Amino acid sequence: MICERGNKLNPKFESLKINGRCSLQGEIKISGAKNSALVLLAASLLTKDKVYLANVPDISDIRKMKNILKSIGVKIDDNDREQMIINAENLYFGNIPHNLVNELRASFFCIGPLLSKLGHASLALPGGCNIGKRSIEEHIKGLQELGATIEEKDGFVNAKINNNRKRLKGKHIRLGCPSVGATETLVMAAVLAEGKTIISNAAREPEIQDLCEMLNKMGAKIRQAGTSKIYIEGVNYLNGCSHEVIPDRIEAGTFLIASAATLSCITISPVIPAHLNSLLQKLKESGSEIIIKNNSITIKTKKVRGVNIETAPFPGFPTDLQAPFTALMLKATGKSIIKETIFENRMNHIDLLKKMGASIRSENNIAIVSGVKKLSGRKLKGSDLRSTAAIIIAALTADNPSLVEGLEHLDRGYENFECKLKKLGADIKRDLTVNISNNSCKDDFLINDVQDIYAA
Ligand code: EPZ
Repeated sequence: MICERGNKLNPKFESLKINGRCSLQGEIKISGAKNSALVLLAASLLTKDKVYLANVPDISDIRKMKNILKSIGVKIDDNDREQMIINAENLYFGNIPHNLVNELRASFFCIGPLLSKLGHASLALPGGCNIGKRSIEEHIKGLQELGATIEEKDGFVNAKINNNRKRLKGKHIRLGCPSVGATETLVMAAVLAEGKTIISNAAREPEIQDLCEMLNKMGAKIRQAGTSKIYIEGVNYLNGCSHEVIPDRIEAGTFLIASAATLSCITISPVIPAHLNSLLQKLKESGSEIIIKNNSITIKTKKVRGVNIETAPFPGFPTDLQAPFTALMLKATGKSIIKETIFENRMNHIDLLKKMGASIRSENNIAIVSGVKKLSGRKLKGSDLRSTAAIIIAALTADNPSLVEGLEHLDRGYENFECKLKKLGADIKRDLTVNISNNSCKDDFLINDVQDIYAA
């Protein structure tokens, strides 16, 4: 049984103490996909009936999304850990508060359903984040093409259906880039629109396929989800449904990478192997043995060779696994070239990994990694969800202990991350971060200072 974290302290004041030279073994359960559950919660706004959602991960982004839905009248019963019941029968129109939207960019997914259901919507403009400016112009352009007037004023996006019409009007929309969020926003806007909509240059991610599968269960008429051209025939209303969130392919990939980096052998399930093809290909190329059995994957690694990766929209190599994969390449034999093409600022982990002794040259979102024999444990702080996972993976392979902060980022997208690693045999412990007095804390401060403190 995975250890559940009882008292949820504020992760900003917690850190993970990780002893290096780790080897993993055994099997862990993969949770429901964060990037599917978030959009499925938003899609539940499209019906007055109850939506029964199973396999929703217990992570902070989901808790934030639930608060956002409750702020506009949605009732959520999550007493049963196995299944969440969402009831959006009595939505009331209100500006979703700035602070809630700013804490969770994915709240912007609500604009499509609210526009379709209420004819108008007002949400705080989602800001950028540590990995990039996170533009929403494709969302806005697409909604305007479906017949909405969108005004950005005082940090809010105010949307309403033109000419006091009751429904948006279907259209052929060509996205300027295969944006995941824009594709999801426009699918949720088009399902209740009048007439037919085609979304060209649509994103193909599995989370979009999961969304369209749930909407079709609710009575929507969507075809070709998962291809770059999605066809939608608007309907008058949607019913409730029961749906199970797909397994999180990014969590699954993170654990496969952690196993390879520590030259271990683990099994993960449930997974949908087809969602991980690009990563599995690269892991095999770098020397791991991969065994797929129905919905489980076993990975065995005896050596790691440097391989090159370039992130791309699905089915290409996922940008969300770029940082964890970089951590795998640190001790590989030979060089590897890591190219990030999706986000403009998603290399924040590079400097942190170099503090541990990694040999990396990076410029313009390209990192050239030369494998080294040893990495040194350090006190490090992650700056976003996936960079924090990357430094934890590096810490597992270091020659001495590390202290990793930034767990408020980690807890956004990984459910019981350190508990799952501990179940696999890692020597890892979450504790309150001890404020080390200035005289003992140096820039490259070594871990033994903390050991004394923890030992006390
Ligand atoms: C989703 O973000 C995911 N988040 C991200 O996961 C993921 O990294 C990303 O898709 C790419 O796969 C959720 O699903 C909640 P995009 P999203 O719109 O929808 C540019 C994680 O770690 N763009 O496909 O915001 C944009 O600036 C998170 O779990 C425009 O230029 O991604 C970015 O550079 C991080 N104009 C690129 O496209 C637009 O109108 C990809 O953005 C929209 C996007």
